[in-house]
Amino acid sequence: MTTLEDKLKQFDEKNKIAELGGGQDRIDKQHAKGRLTARERIQLLLDPGSFVEKDKFLTHRCHDFGMEEQKVLGDGVVSGYGKIDGRIVFVFAQDFTVFGGTLSRANADKIIKIMDLALHMGAPVIGLNDSGGARIQEGVESLAGYADIFYRNTKCSGVVPQISAILGPCAGGAVYSPALTDFICMVKDTSYMFVTGPDVIKTVTHEDVTMNDLGGAMTHNSKSGVAHLLAENDEQAMMMLRELISFLPSNNMEEAPIRPCTDDIRRTDEKLSTLVPDDPNKPYDMKELITTVVDHNNFFEIHPHFAQNIIIGFGRFDGRSVGIIANQPAHLAGVLDIQSSMKAARFVRFCDAFNIPVVTFVDVPGFLPGTTQEWGGIIKHGAKLLYAYCEATIPRITVITRKAYGGAYDVMSSKHIGGDVNFAFPTAEIAVMGPEGAVNILYKKDGLSPEARQQAVEDYKNTFASPYKAAELGYVDEIIHPKETRFRLIQALEMTQTKTKSGPPRKHGNIPL
Ligand code: HXC
Repeated sequence: MTTLEDKLKQFDEKNKIAELGGGQDRIDKQHAKGRLTARERIQLLLDPGSFVEKDKFLTHRCHDFGMEEQKVLGDGVVSGYGKIDGRIVFVFAQDFTVFGGTLSRANADKIIKIMDLALHMGAPVIGLNDSGGARIQEGVESLAGYADIFYRNTKCSGVVPQISAILGPCAGGAVYSPALTDFICMVKDTSYMFVTGPDVIKTVTHEDVTMNDLGGAMTHNSKSGVAHLLAENDEQAMMMLRELISFLPSNNMEEAPIRPCTDDIRRTDEKLSTLVPDDPNKPYDMKELITTVVDHNNFFEIHPHFAQNIIIGFGRFDGRSVGIIANQPAHLAGVLDIQSSMKAARFVRFCDAFNIPVVTFVDVPGFLPGTTQEWGGIIKHGAKLLYAYCEATIPRITVITRKAYGGAYDVMSSKHIGGDVNFAFPTAEIAVMGPEGAVNILYKKDGLSPEARQQAVEDYKNTFASPYKAAELGYVDEIIHPKETRFRLIQALEMTQTKTKSGPPRKHGNIPL
């Protein structure tokens, strides 16, 4: 007869077996490749001792290819919930030591359970991906599991934050679950994502490409823009996810958590008075302005390697989370192009979905000219950014530091498209285009002498290369001293905290995709 002691012993043993996943040999192999196990990652991600595991003893139900003889408790996914900075998050981590972390019908159901809980409880869901993709032995059952996950990713979108880390392989259709989430973090040298691998590419297009060049962490962080964050290793990736979560509310009905702020809200900085150079063609680093004005100079940049002509990320003002979008004059003169428009548009929509106010710093000479841009669809991609700002109902504060030319002036959260408080530095230039271009067009037929041309440029500058025309018309609310930017932003954010705004009922708009 089985005694109580036996039952408890059996329970302990089962737990130990489940926790060993695919066994010590495979764990050692995983470590040798510079990767942590699913459980080690979860330990690093969550507050110590906070993880509550679900479906630890679940196994697959496959009977083909001798699979009924190979069952591993947990079936290759560790899932449950825990806390980050004391707040609940749901998490699933694919365990590469068990059938290569592949997706079975059973472990897809574990992931789905976690996503449903996250949706119903209103807490973020974090997916730690490390998988050989669809479990071949399960055929369409696995594909069905993926589709069920994609469906939930879409249902969760805009309701709870969804964050993915790619910590090993992620190939084929499997890439679409992370792609549907809000942010993707990849790890250098050990992670890759692609729809079709190097061998298939070689057969179909005869291109030779390595796995890393095709879909490695830097490729997706800098070239494709699929990934938003780049970590050196698994440990750093988990720390980045923790920090990212700290800026976000748990769901779309809540506000982001407020951090006690010990940074003086009235702090001024003399270096800002001279940050914007006299010469309008001289670049400066917009990140310096951002890091100077946010609480404790802490700016968490998203997409730092992609479309560097625009900067996006999170910071805090007086302890409150804010999304920051800024043209970067130090890269391509801060011009708007296809990639920067898409990068910023998606970020505006994320912030809007999750009640995070947006501060926009503007120094933009316009949209990038050229056939590459026109044929690549700058019209529709630029329209995405315009659309995103126009529909955003969160508090929006804008600071024009220097150039705000042409359509780009309208797009960058101008008053006309819903900016709540629009500031300009005395160095701002708000006009249809820059002086040289304007004079070329205005006096095209006049054949001006060099002196007359210079005079015309000066006249144009005096009339338009300032914020005063816009201020006279009320399109700029206030011209502020650059050194006071921090306090003026905090005042504006405080004033707009109670903002309510909604449009007429509709199913959804039709953003130019
Ligand atoms: C079942 C798999 C598997 C798979 C790996 N394994 N991929 N089992 N189905 N898709 C198993 C291996 O047999 C091995 O089991 C263990 O996982 C580890 O794999 P290794 O090959 O030893 O590891 P490694 O050398 O690191 O190579 C990893 C890998 C490679 C690059 C991921 O395994 C691989 O190419 N796998 C196939 C990937 C693939 O084509 N997947 C389908 C993609 S299409 P043992 O017992 O030896 O430890 C797809 C469609 C999704 O996913 C559609 C959604 C709509």
